[in-house]
Amino acid sequence: MTHTPVEGFSKMSKEGKIEWLVNEYLGGSEKAIQTLKQYWNEDSEIQRLHDEFSENTLSNYYMPFGFAPNFLIDGEMHCIPMAIEESSVVAAASKAAKFWIDRGGFKTQILSKVKLGHVHFMFQGDKDKLERFFIETVLAKLFIDTDAITKNMQTRGGGILNLKLVDKTEDITNYFQIHAEFDTVDSMGANFINSCLEQFAQTLKREVYESEIFTSEEKDSLQIVMCILSNYTPDCIVRAEVSCPVKDLAEGNVSSEEFIEKFTRAVRIAEVEPYRAATHNKGIMNGVDAVVIATGNDFRAVEACAHAYASRNGKYSSLTHCEVKDGVFRFWLDLPISLGTVGGLTSLHPLVKLALQVLGCPNAERLMGIVAVAGLAQNFAALRSLVTTGIQQGHMKMHLMNILNQLEATEEERNYFVNYFKDKTVSHHGVVAEFCKIRGVKTVEELKKD
Ligand code: MEV
Repeated sequence: MTHTPVEGFSKMSKEGKIEWLVNEYLGGSEKAIQTLKQYWNEDSEIQRLHDEFSENTLSNYYMPFGFAPNFLIDGEMHCIPMAIEESSVVAAASKAAKFWIDRGGFKTQILSKVKLGHVHFMFQGDKDKLERFFIETVLAKLFIDTDAITKNMQTRGGGILNLKLVDKTEDITNYFQIHAEFDTVDSMGANFINSCLEQFAQTLKREVYESEIFTSEEKDSLQIVMCILSNYTPDCIVRAEVSCPVKDLAEGNVSSEEFIEKFTRAVRIAEVEPYRAATHNKGIMNGVDAVVIATGNDFRAVEACAHAYASRNGKYSSLTHCEVKDGVFRFWLDLPISLGTVGGLTSLHPLVKLALQVLGCPNAERLMGIVAVAGLAQNFAALRSLVTTGIQQGHMKMHLMNILNQLEATEEERNYFVNYFKDKTVSHHGVVAEFCKIRGVKTVEELKKD
């Protein structure tokens, strides 16, 4: 089916946009209109708030908002908010939290906290002259010209940490950068960083143009390409770790030595094998993203950074590591992550505010620690299942409700299935077969005809 382009969509009313969308793409279906509208919030103020977060908002997209209790982090108890649609993630986090509560809990440490941004520019001329000019003339002016922007940040203890000129001409002819380092305290700092960078670019241009040391060709060759923060912050790192005497890891009929051998092997595989590392890190990000979203932070930035960091040595690798030393097992995650607890959604979205309240209104460093703990817990739970029972046992139990919802099971049927699968492994095929049996039909297609 072909569709015609639309003019002025953003200027249409919400009702007008829905009408256009449903007529153009959904065959004018009344049901589709109802589906979009049934997620509107009754409270028009809340709805307006959500409409204004983004553009062309027609409805709200719900995500489950769950809590994983019993996290002992640096000696304090936490209940971690998680916004995630994937079954098993919150359950796995809670399980790992309970496991470690009796073994000393989680410890966190901020290893570094530097945010970055760059003015990318082109310059054709004498490189040494540019370098000298940058240090002797431009550098101080970059600080002075951004004074109005940095004033507030400085009062909060942050600001510009360091600025340097970087020669990138080996990668691209005539390409240079102003590499800028910032401390943005409790804000993620994107707007602050980008505003500083745009001012740096103007200052650089002005100074080069006004200077007498450059030829007119050199002046004309200076072109600002772009000014933008980097989501790769390898020096904004939090470490989360757990440790306990080896003997404390014994469980059921699995000895601690056997468990550690299997667990360590799984981590080593993720350290050397990118195919496994991607899935291993995806599991970490299940925990990380869920808390990042619940606390109103930018999970795309967090994802981009984590994966760039995982590739920093030229080969994609695990973000977690483990060791056994002097009879102590240690498992840790070094996560590069830039978060904010002020600004953005943190002061606007009522559920984000609530999530931060549950976490005791943390500052950015504390939140970095909590998020890293959620990632480490998730990875521990996944590896523990993978090397012992296999992942499907727990996963499919959680997934059972999704399958039953797809089959439009009644309350009574759901109770029946929970009981039925108590001592059996859940599989999609198994659920469908039993479902057909109790409904007295042979195939799912027949169910749909009902
Ligand atoms: C599923 O969302 C995540 C896992 O695949 C992670 C892993 O394999 O480590 C279970």
